[in-house]
Amino acid sequence: MPMQDFERRVERRLAIRSRLDKIDKKLLILSGKGGVGKTTVAVHISEALADLGNHVGILDIDLHGPNVAKMTGVQDMHFEGDAKEIQPIEVRPNLLIAGIGSAMKQPEDAIIWRGPMKNMAIESLLASVNWGDLDYLVIDTPPGTGDEQLTIVKNIPELTGAIIVTTAQAVALLDARRSVLFCRKMGIAVLGIVENMSSLECPHCHAEITVFGSRGAQELARELGIGFLGRIPLEESIRSDKHSDNGIGNSPALRAFHTIAQDLARQVTTTTIEGNSSEQ
Ligand SMILES: Nc1ncnc2c1ncn2[C@@H]1O[C@H](COP(=O)(O)OP(=O)(O)OP(=O)(O)O)[C@@H](O)[C@H]1O
Ligand SMILES: [Mg+2]
Repeated sequence: MPMQDFERRVERRLAIRSRLDKIDKKLLILSGKGGVGKTTVAVHISEALADLGNHVGILDIDLHGPNVAKMTGVQDMHFEGDAKEIQPIEVRPNLLIAGIGSAMKQPEDAIIWRGPMKNMAIESLLASVNWGDLDYLVIDTPPGTGDEQLTIVKNIPELTGAIIVTTAQAVALLDARRSVLFCRKMGIAVLGIVENMSSLECPHCHAEITVFGSRGAQELARELGIGFLGRIPLEESIRSDKHSDNGIGNSPALRAFHTIAQDLARQVTTTTIEGNSSEQ
């Protein structure tokens, strides 16, 4: 490897380290299947952690469909800064976001990403986003266990743990199982499974409809010996495009996110995190 490349890599490694050393806990949001609610869960758990008084950052590494900005109500995706230092956007007190939006001229731009480019883009973000001191960095990922997740694991070996998001549908559960196995292979603690879109209240008779089945995620958690963090119902107030209007409030889903955030905060502050112990 030419000397200049080597020096640049060392410089980037050191920059990543100095940014990450100021962040206490690093949480990875994973799902095998797409569209089950990773970004929704990442945003709402982060908001709930911020409400509890923590300094929180959300890093969006979904390069193909970065949605964190939209879901936090940010219209202008432009991040201030240059290649060496990007300032994250403060979306509300205690809550910062940053992501690949900074590399796109228009939010709707489609970029064709090849594996090494993804690796480079994510490492650049880790090296250049100036989060300052954070209690939590929540990393929203694309579905699956590919280049993006591997780049994070390689660069953040001290990850606090992963949160697996799924619906109770069989295909989603199968993919959630894969995410858990990925964590075990990589030595990442699994903090628990969230079952999203678990039920819908009929607006007429108020009966609970379990659209994707019921209890599947809890059973999977039990089978794999990992924690079950809770169920989030399908709710209009949670929908991304509603969020910027008036997403903050008191509803069963928002209360569930708060309970999950409290549970996570308790888990990550008490002793060593358990997980990855049972073989599968
Ligand atoms: N509990 C919920 N109630 C209502 N709408 C929800 C809920 N969870 C997610 N949604 C909506 O479902 C859609 C998919 O959710 P989201 O984008 O969070 O999933 P994702 O797993 O991040 O998707 P991708 O795999 O594309 O990144 C979004 O439009 C979101 O607003
Ligand atoms: Mg997403």
